[in-house]
Amino acid sequence: MRKILVTSALPYANGSIHLGHLVEYLQTDIWVRSQKMSGNECLYICADDAHGTPIMLKAQELKITPEKLIESTYKEHIKDFSDFFIEFDNYYSTHSEENKEFSTHIYNQLKKNGNIIEKTIEQFYDAEAKMFLPDRYIKGECPKCGAKDQYGDSCEECGATYSSTEIVNPISIVSNSSPITKKTEHFFFKLSDYEDFLKEWISSDTTQLEIKNKLNEWLSDGLADWDITRDKPYFGFNIPDHDDKYFYVWLDAPIGYIASFKNYCEKNNKDFNEYWDKESDCEMYHFIGKDISYFHALFWPAMLEGSNFRKPTAIFCHGFLTIDGEKMSKSRGTFFNARTYLNHLSPEYLRYYYASRLTNKIEDIDLNFDDFISRVNSDLVGKIINIGSRCARFINKDFNNKLSGELKNSELIKKCLAKVEDIIKNYEDRNYSSNIRLITSMADDVNKYLDEEKPWVKIKNESEKELAQKICTDGLNLFRILIGCLKPVIPEIAKKVEAIMRCASINWENIEEIITSDKIETFEPIITRIDKDAIESMKNENIGDING
Ligand code: 2FM
Ligand code: ZN
Repeated sequence: MRKILVTSALPYANGSIHLGHLVEYLQTDIWVRSQKMSGNECLYICADDAHGTPIMLKAQELKITPEKLIESTYKEHIKDFSDFFIEFDNYYSTHSEENKEFSTHIYNQLKKNGNIIEKTIEQFYDAEAKMFLPDRYIKGECPKCGAKDQYGDSCEECGATYSSTEIVNPISIVSNSSPITKKTEHFFFKLSDYEDFLKEWISSDTTQLEIKNKLNEWLSDGLADWDITRDKPYFGFNIPDHDDKYFYVWLDAPIGYIASFKNYCEKNNKDFNEYWDKESDCEMYHFIGKDISYFHALFWPAMLEGSNFRKPTAIFCHGFLTIDGEKMSKSRGTFFNARTYLNHLSPEYLRYYYASRLTNKIEDIDLNFDDFISRVNSDLVGKIINIGSRCARFINKDFNNKLSGELKNSELIKKCLAKVEDIIKNYEDRNYSSNIRLITSMADDVNKYLDEEKPWVKIKNESEKELAQKICTDGLNLFRILIGCLKPVIPEIAKKVEAIMRCASINWENIEEIITSDKIETFEPIITRIDKDAIESMKNENIGDING
């Protein structure tokens, strides 16, 4: 049995889960479910990313404490995830005792190694709001092209990146006043101390090729010292012995993976070191978006190496979500929150659709609503689910729910079962779209068989009635196999099918079992086709939200 620790990136605690986030959580959840079906110990760990300036400012705006804000976001996130059948083994918060302890411990270790240096820097300071300003809280004219209203780190017009102090006529977004520059002492992590280690780590297939190339580029440009300090006021953990300084949120965020796991161990009486010890032979994978690979593939392994923890086995990056070919946009009404979707559509439609688009490449994936309707309605419902209803109808009505004692077409069953190994491998390799193609083509074979055998004709003829029962028994066994193959993608549908078939919970081993002679339950409708109007009303709700 493999022992595997899996994480998805921690969502910020100041915003709702949206369809873009769900690409990652669904990709991870499907992977974990398939591992569990193999009988592996696979622990899916996550948490809210609860610190940082945006969370502090949002709480101020709402006139509540940051603790209150992160508490209510936490509840909302948990509900969204569970309604999408995303099943974490532990979902925690980075604002926790465990995380404080690990963050302090790791910082102290790095300091002991001599990896932390102190520098005096000059930063923008908002004298009205009495706070130092992160780059994103400054706007002004681009120093390169003069475009107005650009953020303090990069220009959307000419693409230039610069340091915030170069921006012309800077304005603080917090108070709309002109910031002053002020000196402050910051602690930096000397990433370059880990250059040799990182070269070695990156060379050992820990990331996809594109990311590896990018990392090597960064390495050859030279690794800059990383500023891990933020001045008060800030919502985060204090730097030891510095009451007015805090750890930058990106320092304690990935440590949140360790802390959430520790919390899992406490609740489940599990040995923490088995997974996190430097010599651990458990596997560990981080699923992340391509935009945060610098943090996960450079800072993070260096921090772990410096504090004597194990490193991730691999980092799996995915691309972004586009909607009907365009970047998600609030003003165009294409920025959908998870909850808005759930108010109108079944979670399993989206699980199925994303799976049909997901590969292990870092390409963006597109949610095209016409394609979404067509894949769900004609493939999932029309081809796959329909096999069950076509066959169960006769078994329920004409045979008192009883399957035949033997099969007619064990060849077709064998043919489908022969594909299971490839299917498991595709899940492992995150090639979900290949699986959806494979399973749909298996469904085509089954439908062809039923169309040729026509049990609905045979049933009318007394001498062929028994044959019809056998054909429907074939069909229902094939249906169970197809649904088993799709179980990581559509877990609730699979549960309903298991109940109808009165079979054990399907896994990669028992999927081969054939069910004959048994009684099944009455086939209840499992999932309906997508109603185009539901998509329209979802879009309307979104537009209403924006205007409201
Ligand atoms: O980019 C983000 O949304 C971050 N909150 C991800 C953190 S992942 C990990 F490092 F904690
Ligand atoms: Zn510019």
